[in-house]
Amino acid sequence: MKTVISSIAAHLPSKIVTNQELSEALDTSHDWIYSRTGIEKRHIVSDGEFASDLGIIAARKAIEQINFNPMDLDAIVVSTTTADRRFPSCSARIQGEIRATNAFAFDLGAACAGCIYGLAVADSLIKGSNVNNILLVCCETLSLFVDWTDRATCVLFGDGAGALLLQASEDDQRGIIATKLYTDGTKEKHDSILSHNGPQNNHRGYTTMLGRAVFKYAIEDMALSMLEILLENDMTIDDIDWIIPHQANRRILESLCKMKNFPLDKMIITTHEHANTSSASIPLAMQYGIDDNRIKRGDTILLTALGAGLVWGSAILRL
Ligand code: UT7
Repeated sequence: MKTVISSIAAHLPSKIVTNQELSEALDTSHDWIYSRTGIEKRHIVSDGEFASDLGIIAARKAIEQINFNPMDLDAIVVSTTTADRRFPSCSARIQGEIRATNAFAFDLGAACAGCIYGLAVADSLIKGSNVNNILLVCCETLSLFVDWTDRATCVLFGDGAGALLLQASEDDQRGIIATKLYTDGTKEKHDSILSHNGPQNNHRGYTTMLGRAVFKYAIEDMALSMLEILLENDMTIDDIDWIIPHQANRRILESLCKMKNFPLDKMIITTHEHANTSSASIPLAMQYGIDDNRIKRGDTILLTALGAGLVWGSAILRL
């Protein structure tokens, strides 16, 4: 039994904020942002628009483009750390809006690694229970959780959503080959390197980050998880057509390739277009690579991500 990806869709909010616009409001510049991160612009939600709104649009596209009946969904897994409300979950709202009322639905919080965690959970559900059709939605609105006067964080993030329809299949040539997940909560406790203050402080809270520490962990931990998953599956980087990493920062991705000898020309990079959209960045990048005709059906793809927790991991799949 394999878990295959039957449909992929993405959605970005229409409002765009360029580096130039940010530098008119803050003590920053396009050159600083672009040279440090590769980011040129970010899409952000408008007033009254939330993570589930983006997720609903991506979810509808994913099911409508293959004429899938939403009542045939068995489960909806939503990766988000920027949910509209503490409860009900984003997944419950998305389930109701797309009229998929035969599906159980829950949110999953693994920050920027949420897409890989979601794939691992969906794959386990398909292989270990009588669940056949799962919609994985990654929807994020970091723009609502940053302090727009803090130049050290607000320039880095954007909003967006992606949806993957995952189905049980007997087709051995396609599907999720492996997933590998890691967490190290001691790094957050000791260094508080990447966190969101949340309601503990009686307000919505802002994202804080020790950028240099995250930069270092991102390269080391993502690289190790990529090498381990390849080794455990008797594969090398030569067996991989495309690497789709979490899109935090172009410099992290370039350094990762340089230091660990991964081919940069196999990497899909979207930081210039989307900035860091947390768990939505991998499905958005997958869609981007499909739209520009690089990624094709049958390609073998290595995914990798790291986020607050710290949580990180990798996955290998054949499209
Ligand atoms: O999803 C995973 C989470 N995030 C990441 O993976 C991000 C990882 N880290 C990074 O990408 C980089 O560390 C950053 C892009 C966040 C920062 O780059 P950096 O080269 O590590 O800069 P820095 O934080 O050491 O700051 C250097 C200087 C500081 O000024 P002083 O103290 O040297 O005078 C900052 O105040 O740059 C200043 N600075 C800025 N200047 C202009 C910080 N933010 C800005 C800004 N514009 N937006």
